[in-house]
Amino acid sequence: MIHIFFYVSFLFFSSHAAVQDFCVANLNGPESPAGYSCKNPAKVAIDDFVFSGLGIAGNTTNIIKAAVTPAFVAQFPGVNGLGISMARLDLAPDGVVPMHTHPGASEVLVVVQGSILAGFISSANGVYVKTLKKGDIMVFPQGLLHFQINAGGIPAIAFVSFSSPSPGLQITDFALFANNLPSKLVVKTTFLDLAQVKKLKAVLGGTG
Ligand SMILES: *[C@@H]1O[C@H](CO)[C@@H](O)[C@H](O)[C@H]1NC(C)=O
Repeated sequence: MIHIFFYVSFLFFSSHAAVQDFCVANLNGPESPAGYSCKNPAKVAIDDFVFSGLGIAGNTTNIIKAAVTPAFVAQFPGVNGLGISMARLDLAPDGVVPMHTHPGASEVLVVVQGSILAGFISSANGVYVKTLKKGDIMVFPQGLLHFQINAGGIPAIAFVSFSSPSPGLQITDFALFANNLPSKLVVKTTFLDLAQVKKLKAVLGGTG
């Protein structure tokens, strides 16, 4: 009888613990690997679950002729704790999202305008690359190096979804050359020539 009582109360309390519909991010608190703490549910409103920024083209007047407009947890607190987020990608003609990784998420991309040459490289150095047209979707497995290049003569637009509210982004060239690691060490660890390293550090804003 006591066993049954404990069993029933366990079910009661555990089901109570599991019932939390959402946890809109309190962006004023710290972010942990599990996400942000929850905004007071009494203060949650519809606009916490709506993000209107992805209808606006990003500014592609930059060195890569590309723009990524994120709807990650920092911009869109409603995705906190849900394991998802999105972004918009604008690629002007000749634009490129250089080789990069998202340490925290797999990605799926859908082309809605133009054409995009996209690819990723596996940990076994396998190359998976394809020219995508409007309506095509492609996945990029978590953590792998990947890139997107405009493959048409017109501006390309894609929307991307991520399997995390905080996918993270590390652009390989910026990691290597937009830092203050002494050029000698960059040369040593990349096998590139000193002149090339200095040139890229100058272009990307690195020092040393
Ligand atoms: C786009 O970015 C460039 C370079 O930063 C800037 O000069 C230009 O004013 C921006 N255009 C718009 C429409 O914001």
